[in-house]
Amino acid sequence: MPPLTVEEKEIVKAWIEVGAPPGPLVVSPQKPPPFTLRRRIVRDLGQFHPPSTHFPIALLIVALPAEFLWVLTRKDSWKTTVRFCVTLGAVTAVITATLGWCDAPFSTYAGASASVLSWHRWLGTATAIWAVLAAALSELSNRWNNPPRLAGYFRLTLVIGAVLVSVAGYLGASLIYGLNHFSW
Ligand code: HEM
Repeated sequence: MPPLTVEEKEIVKAWIEVGAPPGPLVVSPQKPPPFTLRRRIVRDLGQFHPPSTHFPIALLIVALPAEFLWVLTRKDSWKTTVRFCVTLGAVTAVITATLGWCDAPFSTYAGASASVLSWHRWLGTATAIWAVLAAALSELSNRWNNPPRLAGYFRLTLVIGAVLVSVAGYLGASLIYGLNHFSW
């Protein structure tokens, strides 16, 4: 069956709002605002949010084992991998969060899902800001030859970034598959 259109979702939402009465549907839904070109572009861009999410999730998490391997081996190639993952992770996190902001106004999550979206929205935004901070620390640390104290702060930032992106990703996926989608 094809997914519901925006108009059909509005009808279901209006029906739920009047108490989901049984029997024939006698709800006259409010007309959604007309789709101006700007709204349409924002909505179409927002549809790239779900596929874009894979990049920051993977890159910001992979930076952690790469940093661990650098600490273990001191091989420059691992440090280069860390810089690559963190920098690209930050860029893609900002793009992903921006696309999320484009997507969210057109979503029709209600009830518990609305509060999941609210947590997801702010954790996702915090993830993007945090990832930029991690990328800046990575560059600074590299420029100053990785002084131990700065390297320590950078590692802490990496761990917090990996946790943030994981929780934001989990909540995002919960919007689509339900809060229990990870249970086994
Ligand atoms: C780096 C930050 C973010 C990450 C990693 C992320 C991750 C995700 C993930 C994994 C999904 C589920 C996609 C799927 O399984 O198909 C999702 C969905 C969603 N996210 Fe995000 N997100 C981020 C930021 C945001 C922000 C800032 C907002 C809103 C302001 C947002 C709004 C949404 C919405 C509305 C959905 C549901 C999409 C739909 O129903 O088609 N996200 N997100």
